[in-house]
Amino acid sequence: PAQPRERLRIALQKSGRLGDPARELLAAGGLTWRESRDRLFLYGESLPVDLLLVRDDDIPGLITDGVCDLGIVGRNVLVENSLALGAQGHRPLVEWRQLGWGRCSLDVAIGEDEEWTGPQQLAGLRIATSYPQILGRWLRQEGVEAQTVVLNGSVEIAPRLGQADLVCDLVSTGGTLRANQLRPVTTILDSEAVIAGPDQRLEDGRQEIADLLLGRLDGAMQLKE
Ligand code: PRP
Ligand code: ZN
Ligand code: MG
Repeated sequence: PAQPRERLRIALQKSGRLGDPARELLAAGGLTWRESRDRLFLYGESLPVDLLLVRDDDIPGLITDGVCDLGIVGRNVLVENSLALGAQGHRPLVEWRQLGWGRCSLDVAIGEDEEWTGPQQLAGLRIATSYPQILGRWLRQEGVEAQTVVLNGSVEIAPRLGQADLVCDLVSTGGTLRANQLRPVTTILDSEAVIAGPDQRLEDGRQEIADLLLGRLDGAMQLKE
């Protein structure tokens, strides 16, 4: 249980694909803020809502630990980390809103000249990925036993290095896979930006602040449609 907190705190990606659109959404919802010297903490002025700028992979854990109440993050990161946190006995995190941007998919990709006959052909192979939890869940569902090689970046070069036979990685335009002579053969998760939060109401008046903010964000998103 975290200390009582009367201001809502939202975790955002510090840099990268989702950080800027997330801040634009909050600004469109009427939130204004003041930057701290290190620019990692943004103090909300128009509402009691503060922003913490972090690495996206840290967002689910910050919510689970009660350091932040909500986070704007890709579903891929949310699901991957929630599965790991769930395995440690933590309560699940859920999607409070789907934002409809930041779309990408987590795909299994094989050599561009290789034939694809289905998941069964992956038995006994080495799959490089940054998403071992989501991949592991899919392999179990498919009843396939394969080896997972966990890499935090540059997953796409693992086959060329002989470190893995294929990859399971995020695909947006497909350019990265093509540049590495790989082709996506099956999608195991469709992703977009979401507002992630706990599976229960917030405490100390923060739920009311969240309801107010989310109502404004919903309005801003409708205007954009
Ligand atoms: C993902 C993925 C690929 C790239 C694919 O990385 O790992 O590198 O995007 O995009 P494309 O299909 O448009 O080429 P991302 O930049 O999201 O973050 P990372 O730092 O986690 O690799
Ligand atoms: Zn990341
Ligand atoms: Mg990448």
